[in-house]
Amino acid sequence: MTVPSDLQGPDLGVCYYPEQWPREKWAEDAAAMVALGLTWVRIAEFSWAKIEPEAGQFDWDWLDAAVQTLGAAGLKVILCTPTAAPPKWLVDLYPEILPVDEKGIVRKFGARRHYCFSSPRYRIESARITEAMARRYGQHPHVHAWQTDNEYGDHDTIYSYSDAARGAFRDWLARRYGTVSELNRAWGTSFWSMTYSDFAQVELPNNLVDEPTPSHLIDFTRFSSDQVRAFNKAQVDILRAHAPGRPITHNFMNQNTDFDHYALADDIDVASWDVYPLGGLTNGRLSDADKARFLRVGDPDQTAFNHDLYRTVGKGRVWVMEQQPGPVNWAAHNPAPADGMVRLWTWLAFAHGVDMVSYFRWRQAPFAQEQFHAGLLLPDSTPDQAHIEVAQVARERALLPAIGPRAKAQVALVLDYESRWASRSLPQGATYRPHHIALDWYAAASRLGVDLDIIGPQADLRDYALILAPDLLIAPEAFVKNLKGAPAKVLFGPRSGSKTADMQIPATLPPGPLAALLQMKVTRVESLPDYAPETVIFGNSSYTARRWRETIVTTERRLAHFEGAYRDGAPALIGNDKARYLATLPDLPLLQAIIVDTLAWANVTTLPDLGDLRLARRGGLHFAFNFGSSRAEVPANPGATILLGTRSLGPVDVAIWRED
Ligand code: GAL
Repeated sequence: MTVPSDLQGPDLGVCYYPEQWPREKWAEDAAAMVALGLTWVRIAEFSWAKIEPEAGQFDWDWLDAAVQTLGAAGLKVILCTPTAAPPKWLVDLYPEILPVDEKGIVRKFGARRHYCFSSPRYRIESARITEAMARRYGQHPHVHAWQTDNEYGDHDTIYSYSDAARGAFRDWLARRYGTVSELNRAWGTSFWSMTYSDFAQVELPNNLVDEPTPSHLIDFTRFSSDQVRAFNKAQVDILRAHAPGRPITHNFMNQNTDFDHYALADDIDVASWDVYPLGGLTNGRLSDADKARFLRVGDPDQTAFNHDLYRTVGKGRVWVMEQQPGPVNWAAHNPAPADGMVRLWTWLAFAHGVDMVSYFRWRQAPFAQEQFHAGLLLPDSTPDQAHIEVAQVARERALLPAIGPRAKAQVALVLDYESRWASRSLPQGATYRPHHIALDWYAAASRLGVDLDIIGPQADLRDYALILAPDLLIAPEAFVKNLKGAPAKVLFGPRSGSKTADMQIPATLPPGPLAALLQMKVTRVESLPDYAPETVIFGNSSYTARRWRETIVTTERRLAHFEGAYRDGAPALIGNDKARYLATLPDLPLLQAIIVDTLAWANVTTLPDLGDLRLARRGGLHFAFNFGSSRAEVPANPGATILLGTRSLGPVDVAIWRED
């Protein structure tokens, strides 16, 4: 087994592109990687044109030599199927493999990810190149794991509006609905004279005069998600046949909810994800003032949130396949991480259950699209800052006892892809952003020192004390039943249970199936502009909420209420001994107050607000990470054994300790 059950710190690795460097450099690079303390190397995800320069003409010589050179130096190779970048000759031979954008324009060759998941021809070609690689390297002693493709969804490539997608979508609808009259019912096609008499009449939901029915849109999203899974599964089946016992992974792109990551991961062994915290900050939820404050350290919660998500996606087995090593090239602005952040991010990953951290990339490329993207080495092979920090992590690992996986948390936050698609299909308010909301909730608990799991609605709920469901628009009946039977208490955000799987309003009104937990009905919803806050009274204090407000009719206890000219006194937070429902989107101070109160209600132990310090626990070890700009006291007991760092922790620093 290549993933050890107990570790002393993370295994370290790197992404390497032998096809981009002269062969004479490979052995020198491999030796330098080993000297740095790396044990894994990922290769070949964009190398199809080099492996098969012409149709059916394979050049294995270079890849044989690369695998051999890296392996002989002592590195374990993660070999990738190269399907993220089909070569030009293939595109010329079969132009129908190219994806089509929402406007109906073909996306051309010249970058990467230029393929349509629905293209039958591309499915054949993907299987063909996967099989050729798997036959050659499946049993190779130096190939220890496989990665399928690269970052499904990068560059908005999940949805393709091609002829092939249209045909496959019609077949998918026929399988889902059985009869076209059932589709007409589910989609509400009596509205605007949209009725179909045959599945063959259904178009893709692009280039319409006005928006499509949300049922049409969410079905296209479900269909596209299934296409990605089927595409991936076809590669996995081939790899399993030729490379038995080698773990298969895919490197997910965080913040991407275009397809169901839980479902795809059912077919693989390890979930990997690609960690670019500073790009995430730029595109993220924080105010400009906080973005400036965290410019070189990233959002203190966004990376941890995703580690916790992919730990669930990978059923406990998670790797970082690409870790940001310095400035990147692709965000609106690309600042450098503070010195020490690459080390901090590496320990953060480990603390959240990651077993292997691989840096992107070994050497900065002086050519092509990513020449501004840092690596561990500068283009002239001089070690860059990240190299120094990786060497430090490699030394520090020796200070730790061997520890096992991360334990289940007491608190879980639900992230449901169908619900994300539901709000995207019918947003109702321009600034309703569920991934920001979920992260705000997560952050509010994290700053109280609480560990969380991110879970899907299918998860086993038995051991949790508290479930947070910030945006469960489509609440599956089975989830509600499990929740009812579990000891956990639950806090729901606005819009929970507000849509059926068909994207309709539940017959009993929202929150639909949640009526099994809460005596309430939502009789009106409104979305509001950011500049118009609502006043909410919670406890004895006055706070603000924004963007979303619901009118609730309920016999449950009123825990917070709206104040003002419009429906003064209407409930803003209600609940009973099992469940609570929030009828608005609180600004951060109110959210923090509600989360503090809710954690206490669920008997979860918390610490006073940690500010910019974050904590995590794994095995018997406690970790603290200082994202702030001043020293912070680590909340270790007086008798704790400090294994790394100090109790008074400087900025960009890490402490690890044992309580015994
Ligand atoms: C990732 C991608 C890599 C590289 C990297 C740059 O999204 O998987 O191939 O482009 O970004 O940060």
